[in-house]
Amino acid sequence: MSEKILILDTTLRDGEQVPGCQLNTIEKIEVAQALENLGVDIIEAGFPISSPGDFNSVVEISKAVTNPVICALTRAVKKDIEVAAEALQYAKRKRIHTGIGVSPYHIEFKIRTTPEEIIRRAADAVKYAKKFVEDVEFYAEDAGRSDNAYLARVIEAVIKAGATVVNIPDTTGYCLPEEYGAKIKYLKENVPNIDKAIISTHCHNDLGMATANTVMGMVNGARQVEVTINGIGERAGNTSLEEIAMIIKSHHDLNLHSDINTKLIYNTSRLVSTLMSMPVQPNKAIVGRNAFSHSSGIHQDGVLKKRENYEIIDPVEVGIRESSIILTARSGRAALNHRLESLGFTLDKEELDEIYHRFLLLADKKKDINDEDIRILTGEVSQGEKPLKLEYLQVACGKSAMPVSTVGLRINGEIHYATASGNGPIDASFTAVKQLISKVVHLEEFLIQAITKGSDDVGKVHIQVEHQNHIYYGFSANVDIITAAVEAFVDAISKVK
Ligand code: KIV
Ligand code: ZN
Repeated sequence: MSEKILILDTTLRDGEQVPGCQLNTIEKIEVAQALENLGVDIIEAGFPISSPGDFNSVVEISKAVTNPVICALTRAVKKDIEVAAEALQYAKRKRIHTGIGVSPYHIEFKIRTTPEEIIRRAADAVKYAKKFVEDVEFYAEDAGRSDNAYLARVIEAVIKAGATVVNIPDTTGYCLPEEYGAKIKYLKENVPNIDKAIISTHCHNDLGMATANTVMGMVNGARQVEVTINGIGERAGNTSLEEIAMIIKSHHDLNLHSDINTKLIYNTSRLVSTLMSMPVQPNKAIVGRNAFSHSSGIHQDGVLKKRENYEIIDPVEVGIRESSIILTARSGRAALNHRLESLGFTLDKEELDEIYHRFLLLADKKKDINDEDIRILTGEVSQGEKPLKLEYLQVACGKSAMPVSTVGLRINGEIHYATASGNGPIDASFTAVKQLISKVVHLEEFLIQAITKGSDDVGKVHIQVEHQNHIYYGFSANVDIITAAVEAFVDAISKVK
């Protein structure tokens, strides 16, 4: 029989400590309800003494959520514990999470006391919290850098005082996975009353090892993990919930399970990212935009033959409809044919060869090939006459000369001319173009790339312009870099609605 791992989600406490990610109470309730649906066992809802807003959020989340235990953070301070207990008054199941620093740094330089005094304060805090709630978790802050023998004494004392869960945080994300695993093992073997409490992991990601450390904690006997959605949290963040849930689910050899409904992972990740205005990095495991995208020809071919060739998780398991095949210059015929078929085209080998050749020419000029491009390649849809087209460009520039540009734009079939000066030939040309169009656009991004290395290179220009809060993209490639820039600018403007 596999053993259950309890999931304590601290997105709304440790996660919410990230500067700029603060949520209001309504948003926190939305996240808490999503976490309940996801199946987390414990929601750390806030640090009630820290602000009236946090206090209120713990009160409202306690009312709005039914199944998970609601946990409130405190320091080992009586007033903190009293305020947390008050904030938890409506929770159906409640927990107070109290604790104190146990590393030499925290004892000597932060709390400025003695190791013995820390043990006394820790046990007193747990005893005091027990007056208000049955379920008391103790955190040994900076346990990652603490001495194992001393940590074992602290843990023994707090369990004796009534702690039901003992949290061993790697607060600074310093531990190596083996070291963290050995710490948990040491506690299992050297704390006489350890069977009376659940050991919890709480790992930070400063060296990118939060998930690895959490796994080693579970392997060595921890049965609760503290995690956040998308791994958000102080500095480099906390262990991410989605990674741990999918490790437990994919690695049957661990003989563990959790109650997470993994099919809700992606939507929960999107919700947290949107509400906290915190984009998920594209290559983030499980929930990043590229986590189930394949762009190289060899991988695309392999995935199309059998998904498992290059995927260890079925994207459906985390709530993503299907893996995506990104068509780029590195894609092969198999991927192109797959996309053509999904768009309803059935081609014989010769037709496919012909389209593939045209596809490669286009892919060299354009980063991603979309469905519209594919239709154009098949000849089904003609590109038609563009509403805006650069027909004429003449620039005068040079050292100590005032750059001047004359631009001829075909606008709905008729050519119009304008001349302008600027601080360089591109600036002068863009100003001339702007004189000819009625819409106000702002240049947001301008990227020039050389395709090869010689002075006869083709230059590629990518441009982003903004119009009424919308971004439009333009692209062109030309041996004349100024022409490429003006064409890309006109290309972007021609898409403005
Ligand atoms: O990282 C940490 O030590 C914490 C504790 C307050 C649990 O977040
Ligand atoms: Zn933390």
